[in-house]
Amino acid sequence: MSTSDKTKREGFSSTLGVLAATLGSAVGLGNIWKFPSMTGQNGGAAFVLVYLVCVALIALPVMISEFVIGRRAQANNVGAFKKLAPKTPWYLTGVSGVAAAFLIMFFYTDVAGWVYAYAFKALTGQLAGADATKTADIFGGYVGSVAGPVAWQWIVLVTISVIIIAGVTKGIERMTKTLLPILFVLLIVCDIRALSLPGAMDGVKYLFQPDLAKITPAVILAALGLAFFKLSVGMGTMTTYGSYIGKGENMPANAIKVALSDTLVSLLAGLAIFPAVFAFGFKPDAGPSLLFITIPAVFQTMPFGQVFLTMFFVLAAIAATGAMISLLEVPVAYLTEEHGWSRVVATVSSAALMGSVGLLATLSTSTLAEKLVMGKTFFDLFDFVSSNILLPVGGILICVFVGWKLGPAVLADEASNGGTLGNQLVLRVLSVLIRYVAPIAILLVLLNGLGVIKL
Ligand code: TRP
Repeated sequence: MSTSDKTKREGFSSTLGVLAATLGSAVGLGNIWKFPSMTGQNGGAAFVLVYLVCVALIALPVMISEFVIGRRAQANNVGAFKKLAPKTPWYLTGVSGVAAAFLIMFFYTDVAGWVYAYAFKALTGQLAGADATKTADIFGGYVGSVAGPVAWQWIVLVTISVIIIAGVTKGIERMTKTLLPILFVLLIVCDIRALSLPGAMDGVKYLFQPDLAKITPAVILAALGLAFFKLSVGMGTMTTYGSYIGKGENMPANAIKVALSDTLVSLLAGLAIFPAVFAFGFKPDAGPSLLFITIPAVFQTMPFGQVFLTMFFVLAAIAATGAMISLLEVPVAYLTEEHGWSRVVATVSSAALMGSVGLLATLSTSTLAEKLVMGKTFFDLFDFVSSNILLPVGGILICVFVGWKLGPAVLADEASNGGTLGNQLVLRVLSVLIRYVAPIAILLVLLNGLGVIKL
């Protein structure tokens, strides 16, 4: 039985608090690392276009649905389904979310480790004076080694475990609130420099001039997966956060603000990276290495480059940490509230599992590089199965649950705070998106992308 039923649940104290917390979960490696590398691997602007459509028509309605479930139930991701649909298998949606959280963390902690390591390298001057060829060598050497990446991955896990155990999530939120704007400003500084490099316009065109012929079923599925991953939806993070949202808050408005700000951060990251890629003569499809090769090289060409570079990676590390806390909190809340584990045991065992299975992802760039499962390295497999399968399937279930099981009346009631918000038009559009557009579109994209059906 959930302990939170007996005690009064804590909640976010203000509208800005709700925005900061949800945005703190959304903004992370997805913006500065995954968005640029996937854009490069999937053909540029055409991918960006499909991605934007997926955010607006699918991920955003799923986010609002999760808020609705969480605030209505006042419980964790599994408990919420048990409460709203007792004695039905709906709670399995929550269980699959917990599995997705683990799969994501297996590789997310690896990449977060790279970011921590780069913050350290920048601080200790190891990247000073490195041109683009040199930064490419440094990155290749780093991820090709074993001890460093493994050690940094464990440092990441210890850091987030300490934060979760100490229960200072609130402190992290406060920190995110002040630091996100600084990250934003730094990205703009980086954009200005990158855009003034010779040949930068090719990068801008690459990002904004779509070649529609590049849109294939696999590209659409990748864009959909990224939209889920970016907005932290499809596995219950926003359900958990929804349970902390006060009765008077405007949930649809909050979700729209999160989606817009998050997308802006991704586009700014793309504008810092692609002009530099073309200016330095790299290929845009280099994948995960893009961020770690181009950003250090761009900062080298600026006055106070080392200071800016250090700040950039420190802020990126903090953004990644905020996102990981929302990820780790899902299994921890589930294990403590549904299975009665203590917070310490739940955190330490979850982190230990993430660290050990996560080694498979970490070694995918070195000793296990040749070991392929279904044609993918472990790193890519964890990424693919979580973003492109579990999150979309979770998204369908969440939409069907809110749109059909709870039904339009409950949806309208929650999303308008009992009719007091007067957002009739938003409600009508939302209802169509949640009941029909999102679930059907996800299903078609999923089956088509996986090659089960041919459209
Ligand atoms: N959105 C985060 C990022 O872009 C990652 C993340 C945090 C996430 N919580 C999540 C992804 C929940 C999916 C589900 O870095």
